[in-house]
Amino acid sequence: MVIRAQACANIALTKYWGKSDLELNLPAVPSLSLTLDALRTETSIRFIEGAEDRIELNGEEARGSARARMVAQLDRLRSLAKIDRRVAVASTNHFPTAAGLASSASGFAALTFAADALFDLGLSRNELSAIARRASASAARSLFGGFSELPAGRPGEAALGARAIEPQKPQKPQEPWDLTMIIAIVSARPKSISSTEGMERTRKSSKLYPAWVEAAPEYHEAALRALEARDLSALGHAMERSTFAFHASAMAADPPLIYLAPATLSLIEAVRTLREDALPPAYMTMDAGPNLKLLMETRHVERWARELRDREEIEQLLISGPGEGAKLLG
Ligand code: DP6
Repeated sequence: MVIRAQACANIALTKYWGKSDLELNLPAVPSLSLTLDALRTETSIRFIEGAEDRIELNGEEARGSARARMVAQLDRLRSLAKIDRRVAVASTNHFPTAAGLASSASGFAALTFAADALFDLGLSRNELSAIARRASASAARSLFGGFSELPAGRPGEAALGARAIEPQKPQKPQEPWDLTMIIAIVSARPKSISSTEGMERTRKSSKLYPAWVEAAPEYHEAALRALEARDLSALGHAMERSTFAFHASAMAADPPLIYLAPATLSLIEAVRTLREDALPPAYMTMDAGPNLKLLMETRHVERWARELRDREEIEQLLISGPGEGAKLLG
């Protein structure tokens, strides 16, 4: 029997940065994300004979820490299922070329979902989200489609998982809140310092880390209220404050973590000028890398894409609507 599952990556609108419990991989701050349809990982899994798991990532045998993280996640699921059999896993990212985008969220969400089915665990989505969190906290959010929230965890809170958040129903049903994200790829090179390492360095050495942990819930609450009210300008404001506060805390680490490239700064300036001058509202966020993501109403995407497409800072432009939660494929 071969099980196939898929999950989409997500982009945080309010950011997770910092852990309250290293062992359980619990976030010190709450985060809110949008799962994206254009960034999909498909994973197949089956039992094999033998002493070792066989793990393929994008058609190549996984090695080193990438392999170790996948095996550790399989071990968690095997121990819950009280199964001691090895598996073959093949995981493929259906991301547009040169994406250079974090695939660990969709990858671990798809792996967790697929293994639950193969091991016949029958866990709920929230339980699977908590297990995905152990591998990578952002993966907890990719179990769900659309907007998803991962609360902050108290040390020891092993069952913490994400949950789906519905923006409030539109007053007029013919007017859905139709949002799209444009991802401006500034560099497809893998980041030099992983999120896991970067957030630990920030926690241990940045004098701005306590201020970040104190401020993050405020931005998050503002984002949740904005979702409730379907207020894109308030959501965008909270998202940008969370983004720049997280980057500021990371920049104050020792040695400093500077994830934004000169091209990113030049784009930030361009977005601000464009939306002040002429273009409809769009709001930006950046993760632990130089790529810039812009959130806007879908009806404005063409205008923004036209403006951005030919800019020399950008290697590639991706456009994505909200994606579904993790699911099995027939
Ligand atoms: C900046 O989920 O990759 O993208 O839990 O250590 O695997 P680990 O970290 P990860 O961190 C994501 C950090 C971020 C913000 C976010 O996605 O919330």
